[in-house]
Amino acid sequence: MTALLDLQSVSVSIGKVALLDGISLSVARGQILGLVGESGSGKSLTAMAAMGLLPLFGGRVTQGSVRFDGQDMAAMTEAERRKLRGRRIGFVTQNPMTALDPVQRIGEQVDVVSRLHLGLDRKAARERTLDLLTQLRIPEAAAVAEAWPHQLSGGMKQRIVIAMALAGEPDLIIADEPTTALDVTVQAQIIQILGNLVREKGVALMLITHDMGVVAQVCDRVAVLYAGRLAEEGAVAPIFAAPAHPYTSALIGCIPQEAMAKGALRGIPGAVPSALAFPAGCRFHPRCDRASDLCRKTVPTTGPRGDGRVACHHPGALA
Ligand SMILES: Nc1ncnc2c1ncn2[C@@H]1O[C@H](COP(=O)(O)OP(=O)(O)OP(=O)(O)O)[C@@H](O)[C@H]1O
Ligand code: SF4
Ligand SMILES: [Mg+2]
Repeated sequence: MTALLDLQSVSVSIGKVALLDGISLSVARGQILGLVGESGSGKSLTAMAAMGLLPLFGGRVTQGSVRFDGQDMAAMTEAERRKLRGRRIGFVTQNPMTALDPVQRIGEQVDVVSRLHLGLDRKAARERTLDLLTQLRIPEAAAVAEAWPHQLSGGMKQRIVIAMALAGEPDLIIADEPTTALDVTVQAQIIQILGNLVREKGVALMLITHDMGVVAQVCDRVAVLYAGRLAEEGAVAPIFAAPAHPYTSALIGCIPQEAMAKGALRGIPGAVPSALAFPAGCRFHPRCDRASDLCRKTVPTTGPRGDGRVACHHPGALA
């Protein structure tokens, strides 16, 4: 499968601080890639790099390449990148309130996307908006389109943000923890809807989450980040059956039902190190029960494993 979004050995710095180190991952059309890792592991920065948004944060890609549909993002002008983001990449943020204008009616906010990017007139844009709201299982779409953001629940607002991301008919959707602010039932619904849309429309989806349960439920592939580096990447089923990287195992151990089956909720002791004090060798070594002297001194290279890749000196065996 050819990748729509392809990151090759991408390193990122903000100011003088190196935050991402050699991240490679890709997403194809009709595919859902889960990007996981604890808070501070570099998920959002990876998304920013993928959208060419780093300059807004004083950041830059210091090494490697980001390609969208074969085009090198670094070779584009800012205007070209902006057009790409609006037209071909839809972004769903964690907090719907930052994406919605509180003083504009819902319908108008969604309409504007297809008017701008698809060149639809007012009437056609509204029809498209109502159609999208219905697809997102919003009851009484016409009434919701006339509502103001503050009149809607959190789950409803997040669906509107997803509608806005979809309105321009993007080829790629990047959803950064799209359901973190919502309660568990609404979360499951929204993830399901997003997953179905991807399958039906053949869109590529990069789904950022810290929830391995969500990954198991809807993703085809998963990329696990730790402290700015890729720990492991590959198809979901074999990785869940036999994770190679101890960090992946620990994250899977954090899925409540699995942990419960083992009789205890197994958290991962310790925390992701700060970018100002990354440990030498493998950055996970202070928290790893497999760590050896080699791990403490030498950075593990990324090697193939099944259909994916892993960066670990002592990876687990394939199932
Ligand atoms: N603008 C910035 N300036 C300096 N450091 C930053 C900046 N943005 C992020 N970082 C640092 O980069 C690292 C990765 O951040 P990132 O936001 O990508 O993490 P994340 O995986 O998305 O975490 P979360 O789950 O909390 O959203 C963190 O150590 C963070 O402190
Ligand atoms: S390289 Fe060593 S410390 Fe790092 S995850 Fe693998 S076993 Fe653990
Ligand atoms: Mg984030």
